[in-house]
Amino acid sequence: MLNTPSPPKGEAISSNGSSPVHLRQIQEILEATHEKYKNVDDGKVATYIPELGKANPNHFGICLVTVDGHVFRVGDWDKEFTIQSMCKPFAFLMALEQRGPAEVRKHVGVEPSGDAFNSIELDAKTSCPFNPMINAGAIAVASLIKKSPVEAGIQAFVDQMSEAAGRNLRIDYSVMNSETLTGNRNRAIAYLLRNFEVVDEHVDEALRQYFAQCSLLVNCEDMAMMAVTLANMGANPRTGNPVFDFQYIKYVLTVMFTCGLYDYAGGWAYEVGLPAKSGVSGGIFGVVNRQLGIGVYSPRLDTQGNSVRGILACKDLASELGLHAFEFTNVGSHFMQSML
Ligand code: DON
Repeated sequence: MLNTPSPPKGEAISSNGSSPVHLRQIQEILEATHEKYKNVDDGKVATYIPELGKANPNHFGICLVTVDGHVFRVGDWDKEFTIQSMCKPFAFLMALEQRGPAEVRKHVGVEPSGDAFNSIELDAKTSCPFNPMINAGAIAVASLIKKSPVEAGIQAFVDQMSEAAGRNLRIDYSVMNSETLTGNRNRAIAYLLRNFEVVDEHVDEALRQYFAQCSLLVNCEDMAMMAVTLANMGANPRTGNPVFDFQYIKYVLTVMFTCGLYDYAGGWAYEVGLPAKSGVSGGIFGVVNRQLGIGVYSPRLDTQGNSVRGILACKDLASELGLHAFEFTNVGSHFMQSML
């Protein structure tokens, strides 16, 4: 057996195998990352949902929360934005909890599509959406977790997300209405799903559930708390409450790792190496299993619909903190806990 290098106890995780990073240095690293990218103005704010176009393009916030409850924040970490596609992993987790993995797999696959988030396509072999991270898969999932009346399913989603964030969250109905008015592409996808009996006859209810989920208001700290709740086996580290059934979290993190960034998923896994999910409002959240959660927000997007500053920040943080899943120095939370 090869000798495995391990950092001295009470010291650190490390980015490059030689320079330890102490827990107390995380704030400095967050601040340096924010400073480095706060003036990058590449990319464009999403306007295909007209209400999203009102976002302040200069907002830029980062939050990191560890499983033992340490919170690090910088910039516009408290500015609210709609969760958009970052709702997809959580809705998928709710479907797994409510329907079980076998039933869910009858409606949605787990293969990366390599295509854009809003592709109008199904897997030719199964006539199901490729995965739950693209819109087609997320609408299939929304159909599984909707209730009758539909407001009950929306409330169940808001309640569980509030538990994960550790505070009461709410829907932004102006964004939801804006997407409902302009969401013809998602309606086309939903009726394609109905044609192949992936969703039941309550197509409009499934869409309402999906649009509502996407319109949940969050900030960077909420996203980091929700991420760290996944990292912490489903328990919110701040409240101590169990939120998610931990036996399904591995499935969610897997599809986030392989499909979370759509047609940039391979590049992201290679360069950042974290299960993550982006949204067109400009948020990205990432999970370091058993260690920490990260939430980043900046509304200017690249051509693939991912936050420009968000991606730059995550690349730097992954490198500086040694967060890549296959970074050999990524050694586990017990080292971080002993660093204070
Ligand atoms: O369905 C839509 O188009 C939006 N509600 C969500 C898309 C999204 O966030 C894609 N992520 N980058």
